Amino acid sequence: MHLLIPAAGSGRRMGSDRNKLLLVVRSKPIIAWTLLAAEAASQISWIGIISQPLDWQDFQTILTQLKQSSPVELIPGGSTRQESVYNGLQALPDSAKEVLIHDGARCLATPDLFNSCAQAIQHCPGLIAAVPVKDTIKVVDENGIIQSTPDRRQLWAAQTPQGFDVKLLKQCHTEGVRQGWEVTDDAALFEKCGFPVRVVEGEETNLKLTTPQDLAIAEFILKTRLG
Ligand code: C5P
Repeated sequence: MHLLIPAAGSGRRMGSDRNKLLLVVRSKPIIAWTLLAAEAASQISWIGIISQPLDWQDFQTILTQLKQSSPVELIPGGSTRQESVYNGLQALPDSAKEVLIHDGARCLATPDLFNSCAQAIQHCPGLIAAVPVKDTIKVVDENGIIQSTPDRRQLWAAQTPQGFDVKLLKQCHTEGVRQGWEVTDDAALFEKCGFPVRVVEGEETNLKLTTPQDLAIAEFILKTRLG
C-alpha cells in the first residue's frame, strides 16, 4: 500500500517559527514518530513525504537515522494541505491503485490503525479513521450565538489515515481546483463529488499535534506506551 504523508505545514499554531514536525517529543522529531509507526505497519510498502524543499535536508537526516526499509520519496509541498496532497497524488507511482493519506502531525497513530485502513480500502472507494465525539457540539454564528445543536450520536471526529481509490481521488482534487473548493481533509472532496466515504474506528490517542499543550500530551502518551 502506498502512503502519502502531508508534512509541509508551518509551526504557527504551535508557536514555532519552523515546521512543527521537526520539533522534538520524547527525544525524536514528531515526523520520526509518524514514520516509525508507518514503517512498522506490514501493509505499507512505499512512503511519500510531502514537505517544503527548505526542510528536505532535515527530513533526509531523519530518514538516514531511522534506516527506513520502505522506499521513501520527498515530494514538494503546496501552500495549503489540499495543494500538498494534490502534489503528492501526482507523484504516486502508476502502480498505486489505492492510497492512504496520513497527516505527519498525527504521530501517535499505531501500526495496527495503518494496517486496518489498508485492508478496509480494498473493499470501498473511500474511508477515514474517526472517533465518536464526546462533547456536545454547537453550530455558532459570527456573533457568537448558537444556531443549532446537532445530534451527537451522528457526530464523529475525523482523523487520518484516510484511504481512497487513487483514480477517483485525483478526479476529486481536480474538481476541487476547478470549483475553488477549500477543504481541510480529502474525504470532504470525495463527499462533495458524491462518492461514499466509510468511517472506520480510529484511536482516541491519535491526536493531531497542533498546540504546545498537545506536545505535552504526546510526551505523556509515548512515555506510557514505551516506558
Ligand atoms: O496545520 P495542520 O496540522 O492542520 O495540518 C495538517 C497536516 O497537513 C500536517 O501534517 C501538515 O504538515 C500538513 N500540511 C501540508 N501542507 C500545508 C499545510 C499543512 O502538508 N501547506
